Amino acid sequence: MKPGEIRALVRMRGFDADHDRRVVARSHSIGDLRREARRRLPQPVFGYADGGADEELTMRANRAALRRWLFRPWVLRDVSEPDLQVPVLGSGLAAPLGLAPTGFTRVFHPDGELAVARAAASRGLPYGLSTCGTHTIEELAGTGHPGLWFQLYVLRDRKLSDALVDRAAAAGYGVLEVTVDTPAGGRRTRDLRTGFTAPPMLTPRALLDIAVRPGYWTSMLRAPALRYASLAAPGLHTIADITAMFDPSLSWDDIEVLRARWPGKLLLKGPLGPADAVRAVSAGVDGIHLSNHGGRQLDRCVAAVDMVRPVREAIGEQAAIILDSGIRHGADVAVAIARGADMCMVGRGYLYGLAAAGQLGVEHAIDLLTGELRRTMQLLGVTTVAELRKHGDELVVPAAPGASREP
Ligand code: GLV
Repeated sequence: MKPGEIRALVRMRGFDADHDRRVVARSHSIGDLRREARRRLPQPVFGYADGGADEELTMRANRAALRRWLFRPWVLRDVSEPDLQVPVLGSGLAAPLGLAPTGFTRVFHPDGELAVARAAASRGLPYGLSTCGTHTIEELAGTGHPGLWFQLYVLRDRKLSDALVDRAAAAGYGVLEVTVDTPAGGRRTRDLRTGFTAPPMLTPRALLDIAVRPGYWTSMLRAPALRYASLAAPGLHTIADITAMFDPSLSWDDIEVLRARWPGKLLLKGPLGPADAVRAVSAGVDGIHLSNHGGRQLDRCVAAVDMVRPVREAIGEQAAIILDSGIRHGADVAVAIARGADMCMVGRGYLYGLAAAGQLGVEHAIDLLTGELRRTMQLLGVTTVAELRKHGDELVVPAAPGASREP
């Protein structure tokens, strides 16, 4: 090559002094954000987000089940303007995606749920605040996000539980999702091994970790003390302590009582079988949130995606179907829609972004997932989410029996 041709190939990028922007610039998948989160977080904190129950079989089954579906695309169908917008539960969403409620979120980044709500609002997507959140119902409403959901664990202390429901209604939350897969706490073996508590304890190991991960520890030690904002639970807790506060006597009658109490849309999070879905619809719910809690509760559980079609066939269009558990790529969302879901929720996927780069990291996680979904739709030859759902059986087919796809 001539010197001029070589010079034309030289590209020097200036160093960006902003840590979060650098992380985002080098992360091209949710897997990349996960690696960044693993680097930044102390091992017990990373394990709390990343882990599942017992042998983590459900957690792996969720990923494997999503990957068993293969695309059989259409061609030559002018896909220059794919439209990801969908109406779900009476609201128009920018894409069939929401940010799932997660517990103790400020342990991943000092901005916690506020950063997640702002990121979700900036992208026109809903976000659910957990009963185990680290910001109050009212603090989160203060972000001005118009599409907030409140996730309820019905507590043994029913007065406190009812008060949370009433506060969420008063603060303008449009959706209440009642989690029903937690009559006992899942056995989080990684947390038991690492000794994870909320908040994390300053053990000798943690003190050594400060030298290795000064970024995490300085931001945490500078921030207000970590606490559960909606639970009367001061002090140190294991996840088992917290789940012991949830009421294991919860029954269908309670759902009817909640239906009467809550003025907005009501979801049940955690039913998986068609019979329970039908029962939920007759109890007056507006949607079924099909979930096995990301594999964090019952191990050896069916994969949530495998239940979409049986549940859709059982309830028809009487209620929305929302799927979580294993979503790591926009193509996973496309599979869920093709099987009959209205939208998906992502939990760990955005938590990795939050841990790695705060609000910018959550926005990046959303942009990765929606960008992947957009490209998948274009390559499938569809221009709307409704079209993908309508022709799901033609466009998304099961892998040949026996074909192996690593989770
Ligand atoms: C909370 O919901 C958790 O799964 O840890």
